[in-house]
Amino acid sequence: MAKAGVYGVAVAVFLVIGLALWDHFPAASAKDKDIVPDLDANVPVQIIENDELMKLLFDTNYVYIRNGLAEEPQGKKWRLPYIGAAAIAEVTNLLFSREDEEYMLTDEWVAAVKAGRAAAIELCDSLLEMDYEKSLKKYTALVETCNACHEEFELKEPTLVEEFL
Ligand code: HEC
Repeated sequence: MAKAGVYGVAVAVFLVIGLALWDHFPAASAKDKDIVPDLDANVPVQIIENDELMKLLFDTNYVYIRNGLAEEPQGKKWRLPYIGAAAIAEVTNLLFSREDEEYMLTDEWVAAVKAGRAAAIELCDSLLEMDYEKSLKKYTALVETCNACHEEFELKEPTLVEEFL
């Protein structure tokens, strides 16, 4: 009996840990089953779905910028928002080659991607100049391009980004 009790506890602990981990990494296996990157390709290939790209790379780097600019950075602290802005500028390039949805093949999509990339590059420049007031303006302009794209294509969570403002 005592042994069964110990096993019961062990199974319960296992389940709790398992469920916690499952909750932590819900996206990767289930969502990406349709994407099979061509490992021989010598051009960029799609590896993750667009919503995961947004969550993992856009949103995370966006938070770097927001946190980095919460107050005027001093010295090397300018690096944190710069890393975020540079990463968003680069990763926005990938949106040109997305084909998950039909609207991603339209001129409007291309224009929205260009606007996002330009805003991220302008933010990079103002961060390199270590100009706080200008960087805050460029940061707001970048958020506007995020929201403009989400709104234009009526994406499912267009307001998610606004809470960062
Ligand atoms: C050119 C269009 C475009 C731009 C610019 C853009 N996004 Fe997105 N975003 C999308 C698309 C498309 C989706 C919806 C993906 C889906 O659900 O398939 C999305 C969804 C999201 C989501 C929700 C992801 C989820 O499923 O939980 C977040 C968060 C997000 N974007 C953050 C950002 C941030 C931050 C920026 C700006 C720095 C940004 N996006 C700029 C197209 C864009």
